[in-house]
Amino acid sequence: MCVGQTAPNRASWPGTLECVAWTVVEVSAAQTYPLRQELLREDRTDLDLHIPDDDTPGAFHLAVKDDADRIVGVATVVPATPEFPAAIPAWRLRQMAVTPRQQGAGIGTALLGAALSRVRALGGATLWAEARDSSLGFYLAHGMQPVPGRHHRVAGVAYSDVVLSLAKP
Ligand SMILES: CC(C)(COP(=O)(O)OP(=O)(O)OC[C@H]1O[C@@H](n2cnc3c(N)ncnc32)[C@H](O)[C@@H]1OP(=O)(O)O)[C@@H](O)C(=O)NCCC(=O)NCCS
Repeated sequence: MCVGQTAPNRASWPGTLECVAWTVVEVSAAQTYPLRQELLREDRTDLDLHIPDDDTPGAFHLAVKDDADRIVGVATVVPATPEFPAAIPAWRLRQMAVTPRQQGAGIGTALLGAALSRVRALGGATLWAEARDSSLGFYLAHGMQPVPGRHHRVAGVAYSDVVLSLAKP
């Protein structure tokens, strides 16, 4: 799977205009661990980087690589039926993280687009996620809808479920 794109890194704007080129590829779960640690576990080194869903049959892991072959964004996609009403088969987007220096340049969008393409090709009817409230705007900007009443907090981090129906109109 390949998505190529070039975009200014708006995070650095109005400093030096830095352009990045990237490719979306499928990787192993272990290759996503460094960004899971940096963005999603932060300074907690006691937390497992592996999640049980990594072992779910059908789960796949996507990474964005830059032109120096460095992984700058990751996401995991797992077949999973949510606890709220949704069309099935449903898939869950998990553990999405983009390296801080490259955030705001469209890498998350490329990951989400690649995840959606794959899930659609697999016949998925729903893509959902438990979004950190700090990143909720990203999911809403891509047409995902908040699920009423589905909010929770884990270890001080607030989450809201979001969902996108893939059913054809
Ligand atoms: C959330 C995240 C994956 C988005 O990746 P990204 O590469 O920065 O996103 P993009 O550049 O593709 O952003 C696309 C749009 O989403 C919006 N967006 C991105 N991050 C956002 C955020 N944290 N809050 C609100 N809106 C956001 C932007 O407005 C952007 O729209 P624009 O192009 O009109 O400016 C990334 O910021 C990240 O890794 N955050 C920290 C870890 C995290 O919270 N992961 C998600 C766990 S649920």
